[in-house]
Amino acid sequence: MGLCQARLPKTAKPLKPELQEKLKSQVIVFVIGGPGSGKGVQCERLAAKYDFQHLGMGNLLREEAGRPTGQGRQIKDIMMKGALVPLGFVLDLLNANLLKSEEAKGFLIDGFPRELNQAKEFENVVGRPPNIVIVLDCSTETMIQRLLLRGQTGTRADDNEATVRQRLETHYSLCEPVVAYYQQKNLLRNILGEEPEDAIFTKCCSVIDSLL
Ligand code: AP5
Repeated sequence: MGLCQARLPKTAKPLKPELQEKLKSQVIVFVIGGPGSGKGVQCERLAAKYDFQHLGMGNLLREEAGRPTGQGRQIKDIMMKGALVPLGFVLDLLNANLLKSEEAKGFLIDGFPRELNQAKEFENVVGRPPNIVIVLDCSTETMIQRLLLRGQTGTRADDNEATVRQRLETHYSLCEPVVAYYQQKNLLRNILGEEPEDAIFTKCCSVIDSLL
C-alpha cells in the first residue's frame, strides 16, 4: 500500500440514537452461506415477492471497488484475493445503505456477517440483532461447480479457480462461530441449498412468512 493511501477503517462509526430508533421496527433478515450457495439469487426473488430491500454486501463492495481511487483499488485487491474487506468499512457501508432505504418494509442482507466480529459489531452499532438468519447449506463441490460455470460467462472477475479456492477457504475458516452464535440465539434457519432454485425459494418464503 502506498504511503498516501488511507487505510480502510477497521472499526465502524457509531449510529445516532434516532437512527438506531428508525431501524428498530424494520424486519432485518441476514442470508449467509458459502460462495455460490445461492444467496444472491434467492435474495433477489425474496425482495421482489415481499417488497423488501435487497442489500448484497458483495454487490455494494463491487461498486466501491469500481471507483478509480486508492480505496477502490484496495477493495478490489482484497476481493480478488477472496479475503474479507475490513469490518469498519463493511459496516459503515451497510449502515449507510440501511439508512438510505429506511422506508423499505424490510431488508434482506446477503453475505453479512462473514465473521463473528461482524455479527457482534452489527448489534453494537445498530443496537439490535437481525430478526432471523437464513443459512444456505451447500457442498463444496456444488459451490465450485456453480462458480466456475458462471466464471465461463465472465460476469465476475473473482469466479476464477484460484480466487474461488480462496473464497471457500475464507468462508470455512470463519463461518462456524457465526453459525454457532445465531444458533445459540435461536435465530438460525438452515436451508439445503443443493436443490433447484424454486424448491429453495419456497423454503425461504416459509421462513419469511413466519416473521410477518
Ligand atoms: P459476494 O459477492 O457476496 O460473493 P460470494 O459470497 O463469495 O459468492 P456469490 O455471491 O457468488 O454467491 P451467492 O451465494 O450469492 O450465489 P449466487 O446466488 O450468486 O462477495 C464477494 C467478495 O466481497 C468476498 O469474497 C469478499 O472479498 C467481499 N465481501 C463480501 N461480503 C463481505 C463481508 N460481509 N465482509 C467482508 N468482505 C466481504 O449464485 C451463484 C451461481 O450459482 C449463479 O450462477 C447462480 O445462477 C447459480 N445458482 C444459484 N442457485 C442455484 C441453484 N439452486 N441451482 C443451480 N444453480 C444455482
